[in-house]
Amino acid sequence: MTIAELIDGIPKAELHLHIEGTLEPELMFEIAARNNVTLRFGSVEELRAAYEFDDLQSFLDIYYEGASCLLQERDFYDLTMAYLRRAAADNVVHTEIFFDPQTHTDRGVPFETVLDGICRALEDGEKNLGITSGLILCFLRHLSADAAMATLKQAIPHRDRIVGVGLDSSEAGNPPSKFQAVFDRAREEGFIPVAHAGEEGPPAYIDEALDLLGAVRIDHGVRCDEDPDLVERLRREQVPLTVCPLSNVKLRVFDTMADHNIQSLLAAGLCVTVNSDDPPYFGGYMNDNFHAMATALLLTEADVVRLVRNSFLASFLDEEPMEAYLRQVDEFVAS
Ligand code: ADE
Ligand code: ZN
Repeated sequence: MTIAELIDGIPKAELHLHIEGTLEPELMFEIAARNNVTLRFGSVEELRAAYEFDDLQSFLDIYYEGASCLLQERDFYDLTMAYLRRAAADNVVHTEIFFDPQTHTDRGVPFETVLDGICRALEDGEKNLGITSGLILCFLRHLSADAAMATLKQAIPHRDRIVGVGLDSSEAGNPPSKFQAVFDRAREEGFIPVAHAGEEGPPAYIDEALDLLGAVRIDHGVRCDEDPDLVERLRREQVPLTVCPLSNVKLRVFDTMADHNIQSLLAAGLCVTVNSDDPPYFGGYMNDNFHAMATALLLTEADVVRLVRNSFLASFLDEEPMEAYLRQVDEFVAS
């Protein structure tokens, strides 16, 4: 088996995926047309051509604009189903996806419309594609802590359908400490806390996410390598990092894939995983991320298997299904 065959065939979990960030231009135009929403871009080609980013904010501006076509339950269903089909094609067997309710409720779309559409697709994805899943509600950190608290209160009656809470959007200048009270309440209500930290923000935001928010997983976290004490802490505590290689290159966190630090973090003993973040915007889904790394960083087969095993170990799966998936990984590697 070549390393490319290993990457394509091995069963894997995805832990860092924004469902609004999976909106392919073709589906965006289709949904916009049926909802009578006018997009700033005249065509699919024009939109794709705009996918050149200088930093996180330049991406977020287009990401929020794209999401503005999503209005009906069916839109959220179609969006989620399209992602699940792509994930299944990459042999993603378990996925824990983010959604950004404030992006929609601020436009007058009811919270339940968003949740119902996504969850109906996740149920069909399990029935028809065999993909298990979890749903993580992200607070938009460029908005206020009060707005995040109001969103949390909307989510509490739906706790059975939402496994965790996260923190995304513009990182610099919006430290985790801003949301300490929201995360305190979320943990009391039984939501598992995660947070984006150390993507564009400083390593201190990673410490804050762990210490003040109780985050059990750090999304991105790649800037940890600027603080050796933090790297040692992440290793000792085996805090998972959900790294998104193609995203980091597209958003200029690293100049090229060859400069990415994922392999050195893995070699340092950190629990690193690979994920696609917002795939159409960044040039690829799960396996594209692995292939890009394998080529630029000369990943070994052992690296690939480690990254994939980590994806299950870092998931919110119960012990029994987690063990079953890890056995599937071992069986695939042995075959
Ligand atoms: N929202 C969608 N993708 C994101 C990312 N990579 N960082 C922060 N917020 C996001
Ligand atoms: Zn992200």
